[in-house]
Formats: sequence, structure tokens, C-alpha cells
Amino acid sequence: MSHIKACLFDLDGVIVDTAIYHYQAWKRLANELGFDFTEHDNEQLKGVSRTRSLEIILELGGVTQTEAEKEELADRKNKWYVEMIGKMRPDEILPGAKEFVQACRNAGIKTALGSASKNSMMILDKIGMTDLFDAIVDGNKVTKAKPDPEVFLKGAEELGVQPVDCVVFEDAIAGVEAAKAGGMKAVGIGEPAVLKQADIVLPGLSAMTVDKLNEL
Ligand code: G6P
Ligand code: MG
Repeated sequence: MSHIKACLFDLDGVIVDTAIYHYQAWKRLANELGFDFTEHDNEQLKGVSRTRSLEIILELGGVTQTEAEKEELADRKNKWYVEMIGKMRPDEILPGAKEFVQACRNAGIKTALGSASKNSMMILDKIGMTDLFDAIVDGNKVTKAKPDPEVFLKGAEELGVQPVDCVVFEDAIAGVEAAKAGGMKAVGIGEPAVLKQADIVLPGLSAMTVDKLNEL
């Protein structure tokens, strides 16, 4: 038995690796605006909202745009992104992700998605994981972006679980910060040197077990 009552999962970089699609769409936009956008630059956009991502890219390119132009650019990028994720398949689920979410459910632990992405529902549908979450909180339901804890606090509330009984799985610095700010445990997915605030850091969910939840 686990004393942890709920696990909350980020989507991009934890369940699926959509960073490549975000990157390709942002790069196409940058190129249309006349500058390049590297995979290194893309690291800064992990866990960051669409609007803020665009602002970072425009800063990198030294381009100034009006609010109306920014809205059009964000829509243009999203159209390309949606075209790509529309072709996603279940084999794009990151190793061990589906198995661990299912193991939580089998152990009586509630599961929620906590993502900044407004496209979460489409991705979950394409990879066939919608039914594995008791609550889904995405970019359409929150007003404050990570590192604000709103997305995870809403998730805990929808599950009827106290933050102290929750564990968050996150690949972004801002996401780990959000979990800690919400009073939850955080498992970082990635590099320990990057995700310093996390309680433990793993390379991926294939390294996670329900037993390990009790050690946090
Ligand atoms: C996640 C990704 C970000 C992305 C954000 C918004 O947090 O890590 O790279 O910008 O979601 O995604 P959206 O699908 O709404 O543009
Ligand atoms: Mg992420």
C-alpha cells in the first residue's frame, strides 16, 4: 500500500515527446520571419505557454510585433503543430509511461494530467490514454502558467486529494517549481543537474515503480 494518494503527470516530455513537433513548428515560423531557431533555443520553451514561447522566440530574433500580429503568429504555429500531432500514434508514448500510470491505478492511486498545453485532449486521444486519467487539467482550464502551482492544485482538487498526498512528474524546471510551490512531492524526468528542486530525478517513467512513491 502507498501513503501517496495521487500522481499528477505533465504531458510533453513525461508521457510523450512532443517537443520535436513544437520545435519544428516554431522553427518554421522563425524562418518565415527571417531568422533561425535552434534545438538549443528550444530548451527554453519546455513547459512554457504558447504566448510566452512566442515572445521568447521574437526576442531571440530581435523582432517586435503588435498584439494582433502576435495572435496571428501563434495561431499559425499552432495550425502546423496540430497537423503534426494529428498523426501521432500510441507507439509515441515514452517508454514505461503508460505502464506506470496503469500501475498507479491498479494500486488504487488516483491519476491526473497537469499540462500547459491547450492541445492535451487531442494528444491523449491520439495515443489512446484519455481513459487512464481521473482528472485532466490542461491549458484551457488554467489562467496562471507554471511555475504557478494552479494546474496541479486544480488537479488535486478535482481528485479530492490534499496536495501533501500528491506526487508530480515533470520534465521542466518551471513544472518542478510549480509542484513544490503547491506543497507536493516532485519527481523530475531528465537531468539531476537541471531539475535541482525535484525530490528525485529519473531518466524516464520506465525507472519508476509504485514502491518508490513511498520513499519520497
Ligand atoms: C507544454 C510544452 C510547451 C508548450 C505548452 C503549450 O508545456 O512543454 O512547449 O508551449 O505546453 O502548448 P500548446 O499545445 O497549448 O501550444
Ligand atoms: Mg513538460
